[in-house]
Amino acid sequence: MVFISRLPAAVCCLFGFALAQQDLLVFQDGISVYKLADTSSAPEIWVSSSDFPAITRTARDLALDFGRVVGVNGTLKELDTLPSSRNGTAPIIITGTIGHSTLIDKLVDAGKIDVSEIEDKWESYTTVFVEDVTSSIPWALVIAGSDKRGTVYGLYDISQTIGVSPWYWWADVPPKTKTGIWVRDARKDQGPPSIKYRGFFINDEAPALTGWAEKNFGLTPSGRPFNSEFYKLVFELCLRLRANYIWPAMWGSAFYADDEENGPLADEYGVFVGTSHHEPMARSEREQQQEVEGNWDWVDNKEAIIEFFEGGVERAKNWDTIFTLGMRGSGDAASPTLTADSLVEIIDVQQGLLEDILSKNLTDIPQTWVLYKEVGRYYQSGMKVPDTVTLLWTDDNVGNLLRTPLANETDRQAGAGVYYHFDYVGAPRNYKWINTIQLVKTWEQMQLAYEKGAREIWIVNIGDIKPLEIPTSHFLDMAYDMSNHAGPDSTTKWIRRWAAAEFEERIADRIVEILSTYGKLILRRKYELLSRKPFAYSVAYYDEAEAVLAEWTDLLDIAQSTYNSLPQSTRTPFFEMVLHPILAGKTVVELYIKAELNLWRHRQRRTSTNQLATDVQNLFLEDQEITSRYHSLMNGKWDRMMTQTHIGYDNWQEPAENTLPPLVYHGEENVPKSGIMGVSIQGSNFSSPGDPVPDLLSMDPYMPGSEQRYLDIFTRNNGTFSYSITSNASYVTISNSAGTLSTTENISDVRNIIKVDWNAAPVGSTVVGLKITPTNAPGSWPITFNLPVNKRSVPSSFSGYVESGGAVAIEAEHYSENEEKSGLSYVTIPHYGRTLSGVKLWPVTADSQSPDTAPKLTYTFYTFTEAEKPRLLVFLGATLNHDPSRVLRYAFSIDGGEPVIVQPVPTTPMGSEPSGWTDAVIAGGWTSASAIELSPGAHTLELWLLEPGVVVQRLVVDVGGYQQTSLGPPESTHVE
Ligand SMILES: *[C@@H]1O[C@H](CO)[C@@H](O)[C@H](O)[C@H]1NC(C)=O
Ligand SMILES: *[C@@H]1O[C@H](CO)[C@@H](O)[C@H](O)[C@H]1NC(C)=O
Ligand SMILES: *[C@@H]1O[C@H](CO)[C@@H](O)[C@H](O)[C@H]1NC(C)=O
Repeated sequence: MVFISRLPAAVCCLFGFALAQQDLLVFQDGISVYKLADTSSAPEIWVSSSDFPAITRTARDLALDFGRVVGVNGTLKELDTLPSSRNGTAPIIITGTIGHSTLIDKLVDAGKIDVSEIEDKWESYTTVFVEDVTSSIPWALVIAGSDKRGTVYGLYDISQTIGVSPWYWWADVPPKTKTGIWVRDARKDQGPPSIKYRGFFINDEAPALTGWAEKNFGLTPSGRPFNSEFYKLVFELCLRLRANYIWPAMWGSAFYADDEENGPLADEYGVFVGTSHHEPMARSEREQQQEVEGNWDWVDNKEAIIEFFEGGVERAKNWDTIFTLGMRGSGDAASPTLTADSLVEIIDVQQGLLEDILSKNLTDIPQTWVLYKEVGRYYQSGMKVPDTVTLLWTDDNVGNLLRTPLANETDRQAGAGVYYHFDYVGAPRNYKWINTIQLVKTWEQMQLAYEKGAREIWIVNIGDIKPLEIPTSHFLDMAYDMSNHAGPDSTTKWIRRWAAAEFEERIADRIVEILSTYGKLILRRKYELLSRKPFAYSVAYYDEAEAVLAEWTDLLDIAQSTYNSLPQSTRTPFFEMVLHPILAGKTVVELYIKAELNLWRHRQRRTSTNQLATDVQNLFLEDQEITSRYHSLMNGKWDRMMTQTHIGYDNWQEPAENTLPPLVYHGEENVPKSGIMGVSIQGSNFSSPGDPVPDLLSMDPYMPGSEQRYLDIFTRNNGTFSYSITSNASYVTISNSAGTLSTTENISDVRNIIKVDWNAAPVGSTVVGLKITPTNAPGSWPITFNLPVNKRSVPSSFSGYVESGGAVAIEAEHYSENEEKSGLSYVTIPHYGRTLSGVKLWPVTADSQSPDTAPKLTYTFYTFTEAEKPRLLVFLGATLNHDPSRVLRYAFSIDGGEPVIVQPVPTTPMGSEPSGWTDAVIAGGWTSASAIELSPGAHTLELWLLEPGVVVQRLVVDVGGYQQTSLGPPESTHVE
């Protein structure tokens, strides 16, 4: 929570500006007379030599940040007392930690600053303009921290406000230069962060980060690249992002041992170091393998393991450390011998060591136990964990929480937290290449975790750090101040703020559109899963594959044009964080879509099969060029950072190298006896004449606007032929109704779009013949395709969604009524999910509901088809049963019938995935289907979401025409 207020002593407003907001710092002349810096002067920053080293170090960063912004570095001065006279005239910033800084304590004692808002609070600070500091100091800007990191964040807050991004180094965001910086007579009180311990886990280390670090920092004597020079950059980033906690890189690396400077350095910066979920007692997995005499097995090697634990605590005892407790088996796997009883014993022994060696009350030692995978099962079975240990719940490795604190767990002394993933190595497939995170999904889950009381620790696996800048900033901003992320549209607002800060206000709305769309497209299928069969997007129905590719193309267009509009200086960071994932991502998606069309067209015997194969090969090369472009940025600063393989996965683990998907070619064997002309239609891979002639998919007046019906005419052999198409009904017409195709002219396919004049068409179902007549096409003969035309209408009194082609699809936010009841309502989460948005019960602290108690959502729809087995399909988010006593449920009722309660996610013991989980995480959500009874006519669907963890994206009523695709039918036509 931030409070900025004006002091009663009014500052003179030279030009009588009406100030829009109460900013402490302003960058325009004429608002305040208190100039802090300009292009020829920068402030002195006074710190007390008695303060924490972290304060001097951060103050030095702030001094350099003035240099970055105005071109003159600030000057750091270490003093013990406020001097009675001074030599210079530079403006002064006085900073320090209450109780540790003689300067700050002096100002407090003298009544010059009031720190009562923040004193004794965790990581808080007051930044305040002070007049008449001493007789020789007419004014100063004072930053007083409640503790070490409170002061650090206060200093970095100035850095960020004057224009230095937390990503200035890691993403090359240029400082926003200024010609002047003034302080206003105001104050800012920044209270404690929402989450006590917040940070990230570097955990996707090869080949990208490892290769990059090795190139830049060389290898330690133990042969590892992550030395203290590397960690200086990491810690600075961590603190500038207002985080305070890291789990260091651990694939073969041992943070404390690889470089003995690493441990003390973290402490000097003021960063808490922990170790990952299977690395107890501040020791790494590599140390487990190398330092333990005998097996990593508690049951038969207890003594050696206790000694090993002791060594970890001894080594880290003087540094800010969060001790990971418990144990897993060797190499991040379940242990064959551990039981709940032995885990109780292990934690008991570990706590004994902590108490002894640190000589502190356990309540004052941050400790956590990570309930990862099988570990959760021990807890579930009733294992007692001391109150002084933070329970660190996890997601399913793909961003869906497995567990939130239960009502009876919220008063544990050390509380609970979340270990979350933006990068993962494991099933169903790794995702470690580029950013694949939907920000608003992160918000939906973490806001839930926060409201359920998981507020002690948030740590997120961010892989290689580098391509995950945006989700990392988003996650840590939430962790720092959840009050800015309270509402369902807060992610949209956050992107806007982030974009304006990192780039410029002018393109902030564009970046909102770009990142929101990217989140939606990437949620549908991660890149690594695109090689999976059946292919993600249907080439047969709803023109899904082509439509998805068009969405990517549009997205790239706007990202590219935004890039083009930027000055040279911000193009690089924009490329790294925004354009690259879209450009590289679209290239890979296009590659796979074209590879699938290559197979499809081969079955249809099209000569253009070969063009698609060539396209795929070119896209494969383009992917390599995009990687090279990334590697050549900033004169090679990021060389090797994009070396992660990503094309050609055939199991969960990455392929050794990128490999082209299988391609097929049109050849002699594919030339049919029925001649050069081929005709194909949607939903069929037949090629006529020759193959049977299927009926076209039907048309009706309520077809969704984005759906079309067409015939594709194409060459099946090299040569030239002409065609004409005639319709036997005047109300059905077709585009390109006559033409010539010629492989020598490179015109091998033509799409002929069918139009129906619904005013002229007869009422009811008719069948119209579309006859294609070839000329100069030896071996081919005229063929007629039948088009079912269903002219039907809904009664004029009806308002709602109308069936077309045997299905009705409605986006969840398009209800006709949204009830509020007993303080509960439904909120729309913009850009959530795969198509438009999500709808969920609000607030998330709501109790379990029943159809009697919950508010209801109402949808109206109309069907014409008498279906044998009508169904309701509900497309949900990928959320899981995060509270075992309150499984996710919703209820629906058709036409006022008895509500049917549905549990979309099967119940499962803690630590194992529910059945259907793999499909749900691959598809980016659950789809649950219920049989319904329905006769043709107008209907009302009522929906109750009975738990706040349920997020609904779309509803589909299937009356026989629904085709199983990734996204389902386009949204139906709505009539008023
Ligand atoms: C600020 O100091 C750093 C470190 O000494 C130096 O590299 C940089 O050039 C200085 N910047 C300016 C603007 O003088
Ligand atoms: C002023 O300069 C003198 C001589 O260089 C030095 O001893 C003293 O510490 C300086 N005082 C301050 C407040 O910087
Ligand atoms: C540790 O601190 C807690 C809470 O302040 C207190 O209740 C407990 O008695 C202390 N334990 C010891 C061993 O001092």
